[in-house]
Formats: sequence, structure tokens, C-alpha cells
Amino acid sequence: MIEFKNLRKSFGTREVIKGLNLTVNEGEILFLLGTSGTGKSVTLKLLVGLLESTSGEIWVDGEDVTKFSEDEFLRIRRKCGMVFQHPALFDSLTVFENVAFGLRKLFKLDEKEITQRVRRCLEMVHVSGVEQKTPPQISYGMQKRVSLARTVATEPRILLFDEPTTGLDPVTTNAVNQLIKELSRRLKTTSIVVSHDMQCAIEIADRIVVLDQGAIVDIGTPAEIMKSKHPLVKDFMAEVNQAAEARSGGL
Ligand SMILES: Nc1ncnc2c1ncn2[C@@H]1O[C@H](COP(=O)(O)OP(=O)(O)O)[C@@H](O)[C@H]1O
Ligand SMILES: [Mg+2]
Repeated sequence: MIEFKNLRKSFGTREVIKGLNLTVNEGEILFLLGTSGTGKSVTLKLLVGLLESTSGEIWVDGEDVTKFSEDEFLRIRRKCGMVFQHPALFDSLTVFENVAFGLRKLFKLDEKEITQRVRRCLEMVHVSGVEQKTPPQISYGMQKRVSLARTVATEPRILLFDEPTTGLDPVTTNAVNQLIKELSRRLKTTSIVVSHDMQCAIEIADRIVVLDQGAIVDIGTPAEIMKSKHPLVKDFMAEVNQAAEARSGGL
């Protein structure tokens, strides 16, 4: 479905992606995990053409997108739903219009179809009763859900999340993670989630890729990653175990 082949990216003389080789299977939830500044966001941006690679290939559905023009990238972006750290909703539009926005732009649908689709998407993220409110009138966690609804409304086949839970409280983090899993499975999307949260990765990933300074240092299922001997991965796991101990100690 998506394949990175010997992908490299430099800014000036500094190489930040150092020959990435990775296949993302159709329908899987893949976590791209690493400390900050290791090239996670750059990898996503190369995939959707927001940055240009220095060398290498990125195959999406049988096409190498690194050769694409700006126009051709529009087609790829249409396949990809992107969710960023901050909800980035239009504050002056209602929740309903925010979710309807992409639908109106990309598809020729009548009002009845738009209403049905918006309602269905809001139901999928468990939001109801706020259609006519604007984003500033609802909670941050709710805004997060609305932004997920807006992303899935156009039925992308690929979902890309960049630090979707960074800065959220534990309860909202958990809810957003469950939603990522629910939506990915229900819509049968291929999903890449960029994160530095190993706990989330273990809970919802099919596979975890650990990135360090632009290179993959480990890759595997959550069970495999939990047993990893790599020092960086062991550090990440130590944090997860400490948090678990703190929680059980508190009971
Ligand atoms: N547009 C840019 N120009 C120059 N350097 C950049 C640019 N975007 C990212 N970088 C650098 O590339 C490295 C990887 O960045 P990024 O992928 O954003 O890290 P993260 O893993 O935290 O998402 C960082 O050192 C960052 O400073
Ligand atoms: Mg980033």
C-alpha cells in the first residue's frame, strides 16, 4: 500500500532522514515512534508532498509519488486524511459546517446527503447535540473529536496522525486513541500514527516502528517491541512500566 524505499531528506548539509526503508501494509495501524526531532513529521510531509525528498522513492498504490507534480499530489492528498496535533477547525463556522467543509469542496452532494454524512461522522466520534455550536463553544476534547469527524467525512483510504494526543489529559488521550482504532478498523483505512507515547502505541498499533535520528532502530508488533533489546526502546518501555507501577501503587 505505502512503501518507503531508501528515502533520504536533507536540509542544507544536515541529513534528517537517512535511508528509510519501510512497507506499510494495507489496513494496518502503524505507529512511528521516536523522541522529538528524529524525523517523524518530515516523513509524513514527504509522503503527502509538503516537503520534497532528496532521494529515494515513496510508493502509494503502485505509484512513486516522489516524481509527482503539485497537481498530482492533490490526488494523493485526497486519499489521505491528515490529523494534526491541534484541531485546526474554523472558529467562525459551526461544528456541522466544519465537518461538511471538505464534502462540499470535493464532492457533488445534495444537502440531504451532506446532512446524513455529517451526522454519521459525528456519531462515529460520539459527538451529539453540538452541531450548531462553534468550536470555541465546546471543550478541547470535543474539538479533537470534531476534527476527526471532519477528516473521515471525505472517506480517505489512508489516515495520517501527527501527535494526535500530545498535550491532552489522560482521559481525553485514551478517548482519542480508542477513536483512532475504532475509525481505522471501521473504515478499513491504512493508518500511520506519529507519536512519542509508547503506551498508546502498545495499546493500539499493529506494528511499531522506532525511529532515531532519521533511521529505523527497531520494528515489530507491540509484543515484540516490549521485548526489544535496543537501549532506546528499553528506555521507552521503562517509562511505560514506571507509569503502570505508579498507577497500581496509587490503588
Ligand atoms: N522545514 C525545515 N527546515 C529545516 N529543518 C527542518 C525543517 N523541518 C524539520 N527540520 C528538522 O528536521 C529534523 C526532524 O524534524 P521533525 O520530523 O519535525 O521531527 P519530529 O520527529 O519531532 O516530528 C529536526 O531536526 C528539525 O529541526
Ligand atoms: Mg513532529
